[in-house]
Amino acid sequence: MSKRRWDKVPEDRLILALDVEPEDARDSIRELAPHIGIFKIGGRLFTALGPQVVEWVHEAGRKVFLDLKFHDIPATTAGSVRYAARLKVWGLTVHASGGFAMMKEAQAAAREEARKLGTSKPIIFGVTVLTSFSKSDLSSVGVSGSTESQVRRLAALARKAGLDGIVASGQEIGTVRKAAGPRMLIGVPGIRPDEGKKKDDQKRIMTPEKAAALGADYLIVGRPILEAHDRVRIISNIKRAFR
Ligand code: C5P
Repeated sequence: MSKRRWDKVPEDRLILALDVEPEDARDSIRELAPHIGIFKIGGRLFTALGPQVVEWVHEAGRKVFLDLKFHDIPATTAGSVRYAARLKVWGLTVHASGGFAMMKEAQAAAREEARKLGTSKPIIFGVTVLTSFSKSDLSSVGVSGSTESQVRRLAALARKAGLDGIVASGQEIGTVRKAAGPRMLIGVPGIRPDEGKKKDDQKRIMTPEKAAALGADYLIVGRPILEAHDRVRIISNIKRAFR
């Protein structure tokens, strides 16, 4: 059996989307660091707090997944990736729809910067189609095919550009695996422990058990944990999906 990359580096496979108010960020990191290996910091918190929020996670001994979903001309994206690498983040995201050259330059910039710093290269994930997108959202931005075919196209492009992973909804895990090959890491947001319950703004949702069984390498979960009465209990329930 081929070894997945997280078998070699025993990462925690549950990524917490730290989508909290800036004033609550430090307390949430302290509260959840004993239970969560990787904290996903998105545009909201990073815009409000800047690099110090990355430092807080590192001070807690945990890894940062910097989810700023870069999408710009290749040189600008590469520049952003360089600064992210200097923050020593574990992983980061770019929009795969930013194109081949942008993804390739992002990966090259990460590699070069990590080599200069003597650190490990941040893992770069390509975001395919946001899990909040439905078919009609997709056609409203000019993509006439199915969500699945768009995900397939973007995953194949990300693979060609040499990215390390893909972010896609649970419903597209099979499609991504086929298009991106066995080595690409798959991170799955839109996880809802109880299917049919609260979806928030997510449209393509899945339970943790099902996503893990279909081959998700990482589950990316925010509100179901953050809004829970007992956050630690729901974290351990979700982690059970990987056993
Ligand atoms: O709260 P919830 O569990 O829905 O959070 C999911 C997280 O994953 C959010 O931070 C969102 O930005 C992110 N995400 C997503 N869909 C993608 C890529 C990232 O929902 N395709």
